[in-house]
Parts: sequence; structure tokens; C-alpha cells
Amino acid sequence: MSSKPRIGIINVSDRASRGVYEDIPGKAILATIQEYLKTDFDHEYAVIPDEADQIARTMEVMADEQGCCLVITSGGTGPAPRDVTPEATEMVCHKMMPGFGELMRQVSLNYVPTAILSRQTAGIRNQTLIINLPGKPKAIRECLDAVFPAVPYCIDLIGGPFLETNEKVIKAFRPKSS
Ligand code: MTE
Repeated sequence: MSSKPRIGIINVSDRASRGVYEDIPGKAILATIQEYLKTDFDHEYAVIPDEADQIARTMEVMADEQGCCLVITSGGTGPAPRDVTPEATEMVCHKMMPGFGELMRQVSLNYVPTAILSRQTAGIRNQTLIINLPGKPKAIRECLDAVFPAVPYCIDLIGGPFLETNEKVIKAFRPKSS
């Protein structure tokens, strides 16, 4: 395995996993992170159905076996019966990070009144930060622009690699004392 930081992307969607929908959100997440990060990174990628066990297992493989410092999911955060991504995230995380979901819902309300329908959350599994995003492609940038400034420092704090951002695109915040 190379020593580059590794980032996992999971598009959770019954229809995208069957090939009925094109995987637009997964590709959009990768493009966004490539734009944000100055640090060169490798990525892992999965398009899977809305099945809690499969989502949890994919997160575990990306975190424990593939060494991802960050895993970003898209979809499955709403109230519909098949929406189980936050449950899968809670299954695998040792520590929940509710501030991510709170901030993402708050900023998303500037775009859609249905922002409160997303149960998106985030959490830590060992040295991996897992973040949920809603499945709408436009939600990706709306949410990540808000929380990403805190992501590199969060990864520092859990013993992950040092991620540098392209400051013209997004500025990471690290407290001066750190
Ligand atoms: N957040 C942002 N930023 N932009 C959006 O378009 N859509 C909302 C919400 N959050 C949306 C958003 C809608 S309509 C739903 S149903 C929920 O996210 C859950 O979406 P998901 O089940 O695809 O994860």
C-alpha cells in the first residue's frame, strides 16, 4: 500500500448500485475533494445498496483494511424506510461527532426547507472520520464547504495524516496552539 493518505467514497443508493442511476454523487465527492486538497491522496470507491450491514461492512473495510483516514458517504440519510446510512455509521463508529450533522443541516436550510429531513451524521472509527452527506448531488458542495475547514484538524486529532488544503478553494482551520 502506498504511503499517500487514502480517502473512501461510498455512494449508498439502491438504484445507482443496480445501474439504474448514474453514480453522479460519488464522482462529485471525489472531484470536490480533489479540488480541496493540495495533499496528494489515493481513494477507495464503492456504490452499494441501502442495506445497513453492507454499508457498515464497507465502512469497516475502508477504515480497517484499506487505511482510509476519511470516508464520505452520500445518500440514505432521509426518513424513507430504506434510508439507513446514519444507523450503519453509528454501528461502526466508536465516537459520534454530532456537530457535523448539526452544521450541515443548518447551512442546508439556506438552500432547501427539506434540509431537516436529513439525519446525516459523522463519527470516528479508530483513525477514520466518517461523514454522511445527503444523496442530492448539489448537497455535496453545500454541506462539505461548511464542514471541511474542520476536517484536517479532526484527522490530526485522531492520529491520521496531515492534510493540506488548497487555500484558494477552502481554508483548513488548525488552532494556533496545535
Ligand atoms: N441538503 C442540502 N444541502 N441540499 C439538498 O438538496 N435535500 C434534502 C436533505 N438535505 C438536501 C439536503 C432532502 S429533500 C432529503 S429527503 C434529505 O436530505 C435526505 O436525503 P437522502 O435520503 O438522499 O440522504
